[in-house]
Amino acid sequence: MAVGIALLGSTGSIGKSALAVVERHPERFRLVVLAAHRNGGELLVQSARHRPALAVLADPEMRLQAAPPPGVELRIGREALLDAARHPGADVVINAVVGAAGLEASLAALGAGKRLALANKESLVAGGPLVLQALRRGKGELVPIDSEHSAILQCLASRRRAVPDAGEVRRLILTASGGPFRERDRGALLDVTPAEALRHPTWDMGAKVTVDSATLANKALEVIEAHFLFGVPYDRLEVVIHPQSVVHSLVEFVDGSVLAQLGFPTMELPILYALSYPDRIPDGRARFDPVAASPLTFEPLDAQRFPAFRLGLQAARAGGTAPAAFNAANEVAVAGFLAENLPFPRIAEVIEGALAAHRPAPADSLEAVLEADRCARAVARQMVERT
Ligand SMILES: NC(=O)c1ccc[n+]([C@@H]2O[C@H](COP(=O)([O-])OP(=O)(O)OC[C@H]3O[C@@H](n4cnc5c(N)ncnc54)[C@H](OP(=O)(O)O)[C@@H]3O)[C@@H](O)[C@H]2O)c1
Repeated sequence: MAVGIALLGSTGSIGKSALAVVERHPERFRLVVLAAHRNGGELLVQSARHRPALAVLADPEMRLQAAPPPGVELRIGREALLDAARHPGADVVINAVVGAAGLEASLAALGAGKRLALANKESLVAGGPLVLQALRRGKGELVPIDSEHSAILQCLASRRRAVPDAGEVRRLILTASGGPFRERDRGALLDVTPAEALRHPTWDMGAKVTVDSATLANKALEVIEAHFLFGVPYDRLEVVIHPQSVVHSLVEFVDGSVLAQLGFPTMELPILYALSYPDRIPDGRARFDPVAASPLTFEPLDAQRFPAFRLGLQAARAGGTAPAAFNAANEVAVAGFLAENLPFPRIAEVIEGALAAHRPAPADSLEAVLEADRCARAVARQMVERT
């Protein structure tokens, strides 16, 4: 029987890559749920093609312009998104929603004992302890889609347990492309336009994560994601700049051996691995060519050049609800930049302002996390408006 899949965020970049993967393996995977936020037109097209049992628009204000295809139930609103994550026909929930808006769906999927194939890193950043608690209680599975974390999981998969044994793993080393402004003078960033920031040198992604890659806030989010996924303390998590995005991350073991996972940059591979894990299934994409991938280079990351990264690590080490506040302020600042209301370097300043105003609290309840998120957004919005 084919594995039932609920795809949350089906209209986005990861969502469309996931649809391509599922379409190549109809005998293994079948779509049970498709969920988007506001893009009803695309959701209708996808529903006609894939005929899920349920289609969801998460924004309560949205309405479809036409009736859903026969056999497809349409539901609208936040509760519908959470029910989609718990859908009885879904064995795997792919969470490809962007932003902290994905947190509750992750908790719902894990609470219902599903395998959560997680692209929505913000779930773990905002509510890491809650996600791990839902995983333990629901007895589901948490498998990353982010390419760096998929790489680490693949390096660890040869071990008896995917969660590293503290005695065996010395360091996890995440690679970062460095984004489009890796070599640009900090002073020259003031006039950067959204179009320039959206021109990523190696990955084709949604707007928010692409801007996060330009500020390197994305790498701070990923360090926090790795901390919760693999249970590794922050002093054993490192980042190295690797402009080619071919080595997706590395694991150093205590005997000095280092394993890495390589591949041309495509999200389809980590998506497929999250669906097939721990197995591998044949897939017909372009073969890897080490000569074409050469040369592979590595550089240290200068945190002073990327203040959003530095602030993210600061929030990570502070713990509690600080990462939720970091994430929320970043979301508001990035939206402000994309709307051309905020210059690029102000993104980090807005995050700094929101973190300075943040009142530390343990991230031990959804209410605490949502409150930190709300407060940070309010401070960040004020700062964007005053710019
Ligand atoms: N793109 C990549 O290559 C990549 C790589 C690694 C990790 N990720 C992570 O994957 C996640 C998705 O990224 P993306 O690039 O695919 O983003 P994207 O292209 O912007 O797509 C976001 C998806 O989420 C939906 N959405 C937005 N707000 C929502 C809300 N409040 N409630 C429910 N659904 C909502 C959107 O629906 P509408 O279209 O209807 O607005 C869309 O389907 C992010 O966490 C990102 O960091 C992405």
